[in-house]
Amino acid sequence: MPNVPIVKKRIKFIVISSCSLILLVILYRSFLKHKTNGSQSIQNFDKDDWTANSQIGEDLVKDFTNVPQHITNQQLLNQLEHAKVQISILEDRVRALEASTPRKYPQVKYLNYKNRKRILITGGAGFVGSHLVDTLMVQGHEVIVADNFFTGRKRNVEHWLGHENFELIHHDIVNPLFIEVDEIYHLASPASPPHYMYNPVKTIKTNTMGTINMLGLAKRVMAKVLIASTSEVYGDPTVHPQPETYWGHVNPIGPRACYDEGKRVSETLSYAYAKQENVKVRVARIFNTYGPRMHMNDGRVVSNFILQALRNETITVYGNGKQTRSFQYVSDLVDGLISLMASNYSQPVNLGNPVEHTIEEFAWIIKKLVGGKSEVKQTDAVEDDPQRRKPDITRAKTILNWEPKVPLQMGISRTISYFRRELERSDRFQKDSKKYFDSPDLERSQHSRQNFVPDKT
Ligand SMILES: NC(=O)c1ccc[n+]([C@@H]2O[C@H](COP(=O)([O-])OP(=O)(O)OC[C@H]3O[C@@H](n4cnc5c(N)ncnc54)[C@H](O)[C@@H]3O)[C@@H](O)[C@H]2O)c1
Repeated sequence: MPNVPIVKKRIKFIVISSCSLILLVILYRSFLKHKTNGSQSIQNFDKDDWTANSQIGEDLVKDFTNVPQHITNQQLLNQLEHAKVQISILEDRVRALEASTPRKYPQVKYLNYKNRKRILITGGAGFVGSHLVDTLMVQGHEVIVADNFFTGRKRNVEHWLGHENFELIHHDIVNPLFIEVDEIYHLASPASPPHYMYNPVKTIKTNTMGTINMLGLAKRVMAKVLIASTSEVYGDPTVHPQPETYWGHVNPIGPRACYDEGKRVSETLSYAYAKQENVKVRVARIFNTYGPRMHMNDGRVVSNFILQALRNETITVYGNGKQTRSFQYVSDLVDGLISLMASNYSQPVNLGNPVEHTIEEFAWIIKKLVGGKSEVKQTDAVEDDPQRRKPDITRAKTILNWEPKVPLQMGISRTISYFRRELERSDRFQKDSKKYFDSPDLERSQHSRQNFVPDKT
């Protein structure tokens, strides 16, 4: 594979040389015009006459300091405009060249045909899905992501685009999908309250029709399927901590019902397909998870508090802050999902971190890790906000030999770095975009694009 920095250096060299060449040509043309129309011809100075050459140099300087009378301003402007268009065309070509430069991918293990699996991840461009993609790709499997990009982003998986083991399909799982796979991780569904409440009907469709489509696919191709369920199936629990045997306490018509009940139906469908059609199902009841690639508008405690702290805004705690949450770092969840898929266990398994903190404690931990001047303040409680949430992970420990490893401080620090980079990035893009759209050059750039003739070779 060609060395990428060298290729980039070459591209830079080509751009600089091309721009210089164009400028030289313009200089030369304007000089020629001046000389052929003027009293002396350039040939008179061309014959190794040093004095004459010095004269040309002086004339050239004059060309650019005193515009010759017989070249009108309009002609000069036209030439300049022409040069700008040429440079713009060159810029486009360089971009195309850069895009075709061989990419460097993260190192993946080689698996022979027998051990390599074809794995479908629905919602693989989302927060959890993209981390699962990374782990399975590095393990050497073939990964296919199906996502409608409602809350997911191409950027989360862009480092795999073009890799021979990777495929990204823009697909809404409410519609059937016909492909050949060995395993399906069914993660597609908005996960945070602002996202799943944005279009409750679509959330229910995704979790019911989408799940039927994935179970149907698993049945057709005899694939194993893992359903990403949630701790929300326990609703506002009356049992604490929540074991998998607890049936839950869910309001079927509350604002969270589209998600909670959607996931409950998703589980019901999985066991119906297992019983009736012998589909091999795995059900992961995922508890609150955090980490890099979380959505900026996730709206849940971790991202809210970190963003508020990074912006030096007030950290707002809903209610009295005594409600508890337990958060697991995303890499722990990914390990749990892969172990569950590999197991022979078909009953639901809780995957979460049992270390419980009050929301108020979280606010102070995050404030301390970020630094800054934010205050911590209480605000109105949210409707149907569960008061306690803590997984009983005995089953995961016994069956999968799994438990979370990443300590809160470490996970939160990594997540803070991620959000800091995201904020810097969005500020940079905002500035660049303002500069571009407010600039008079916009007209030129649009003009050059209209005149751009694609290279047919
Ligand atoms: N993150 C958590 O704390 C958490 C907790 C419990 C359960 N879960 C479950 O884990 C899964 C992944 O959650 P996440 O946090 O990565 O959420 P996310 O919103 O980042 O990812 C969900 C992905 O699904 C895609 N998607 C949504 N509807 C779709 C549709 N109809 N067709 C195709 N793609 C669709 C989105 O574009 C996104 O890429 C979800 O099923 C969620 O319910 C997550």
